[in-house]
Amino acid sequence: MKILGISGSPRKEDKSGTHALVTTVLENTGIEYKMVSLRGKTVNGCIACLGCVKDNICKVDDDLAPLRQDILEADAYVFGAPNYYSGMNALTHAFMERFYQFRHQTADLLWGKLAVAVGVGGTAGQAPADDIEKFFMYNFIETVAKVDGQGAASCYSCGHGETCQVGIPVMLHGEGVKFTPEMIPNVKKQVDVMASAAAAGKVLGERLKNNHDRMKVAMGVKEKMMSLFEESA
Ligand SMILES: Cc1cc2nc3c(=O)[nH]c(=O)nc-3n(C[C@H](O)[C@H](O)[C@H](O)COP(=O)(O)O)c2cc1C
Repeated sequence: MKILGISGSPRKEDKSGTHALVTTVLENTGIEYKMVSLRGKTVNGCIACLGCVKDNICKVDDDLAPLRQDILEADAYVFGAPNYYSGMNALTHAFMERFYQFRHQTADLLWGKLAVAVGVGGTAGQAPADDIEKFFMYNFIETVAKVDGQGAASCYSCGHGETCQVGIPVMLHGEGVKFTPEMIPNVKKQVDVMASAAAAGKVLGERLKNNHDRMKVAMGVKEKMMSLFEESA
């Protein structure tokens, strides 16, 4: 059994809250995992060429191709994204769009897998976690837990953060803010966030060890999706 972890942050791994939370979830599953950072990778969005329709293999030649087998083989996913403009960032979105290749013909290649969705934002990470959950739902993958935390906005290191009128520090702390090391958000110091990441990992590990019935899970997610569609119609 194997889990695939993806951090969609373009920041260096040791500076990324998303990377830290996805890793913490994985470490707590008690199951073998592979952690992949999308940082520095070229992953373009789906171009709707329909080249994958016959064989479920995307024909776009970029850094997603070597990950295809990992995506297929994993029994579960832990995907995380930073919050850019109240949603998941473009790199993570592009990565997820390319899951279109798995939808054709029988379309059940990913059905019934389990997942954890992670989001990190300069103010809040819930929006990207919700986006990732929705994406999983479209693929009939069950999100067993969501984790969100507050990371360090680039405004704390850009050199203008104490005075910038549209920066997160002035928004959060007001005019005249003076940075102190304690003030700079770091998910690793947020006890409740780290605890929720650890708990999410444990839930995922338990569900996987419990011989989950993939078709039953898929049908449960499908039902939830259909009722959401009906509500919004
Ligand atoms: C282009 C851009 C847009 C952003 N928009 C938001 C936003 O709308 N809400 C928010 O809370 N943080 C926003 N942020 C801040 C990031 O979410 C924050 O720095 C977070 O820590 C990034 O996660 P990472 O540490 O894993 O890279 C934005 C950052 C960038 C670069």
